[in-house]
Amino acid sequence: MSELLRIENLSAGYGEAVVLHDVAFALGEGQTLALLGRNGTGKTTLINTLAGATRQHGGSITLGGQALHKLAPHQRAAAGIGWVPQERNIFKSLTVHENLTAVERQGKWNPQRVYEMFPRLAERKTNLGTQLSGGEQQMLAVGRALVLNPKLLLLDEPLEGLAPIIVEELLRAIRRITQDEGLAAIVVEQHPQAILAISDEAVVLDHGTIVHTDRAATLRTQPEVLDRLLGVAR
Ligand SMILES: Nc1ncnc2c1ncn2[C@@H]1O[C@H](COP(=O)(O)OP(=O)(O)OP(=O)(O)O)[C@@H](O)[C@H]1O
Ligand SMILES: [Mg+2]
Repeated sequence: MSELLRIENLSAGYGEAVVLHDVAFALGEGQTLALLGRNGTGKTTLINTLAGATRQHGGSITLGGQALHKLAPHQRAAAGIGWVPQERNIFKSLTVHENLTAVERQGKWNPQRVYEMFPRLAERKTNLGTQLSGGEQQMLAVGRALVLNPKLLLLDEPLEGLAPIIVEELLRAIRRITQDEGLAAIVVEQHPQAILAISDEAVVLDHGTIVHTDRAATLRTQPEVLDRLLGVAR
């Protein structure tokens, strides 16, 4: 398996504040990483640092051998980072279809394939972003990242605050994207069991630093470790 992402000695934060300290890990092509940790431990800061939306104080990030440090967020998108932020930043004043076509880049993911994955979006093609439920907005945010045809998909708490039936739909889609289609992904979650089940690797953050790494399948079977690290015995 060839390497896709490598993070070394990474420190990053906001302005002068350093939130992440000495973060390091690597991810292979087509692999899925579960990024876990309690509230405020730096998960979003790490995702945003990969996307270029924080201040990198030190260390390096390379994607497919390309150093990302000096690239602005839009250049990182072009380099293959598909970012679905925690706040699902869709264009609210555009329709579902316009949201997808506005950012579409050549590749195997196009609006039609997004509609096949999320039939709810197909039914709402001409609805404005403002007219979508939270779950539909999340599906559209994922779809928008996909039509960029990224090398690495970043999903920041994609299941947060959604009804159980929508959670099931999104999980099925994420599993299809990562396992069947082989797209590499980092998925942030506070409630790990469902995401560990579809991930290859797992990293746990605490106070902006990595406190645990393991195969996802191994961590999944260690409720006492999950309980100690995350405060959940599931
Ligand atoms: N824009 C910002 N400016 C300054 N500090 C910030 C900013 N955003 C987050 N922080 C700080 O960085 C730390 C990590 O926050 P972050 O949002 O990365 O955590 P998180 O693990 O994603 O939490 P949650 O599970 O609640 O989403 C926190 O101490 C937070 O207060
Ligand atoms: Mg967060």
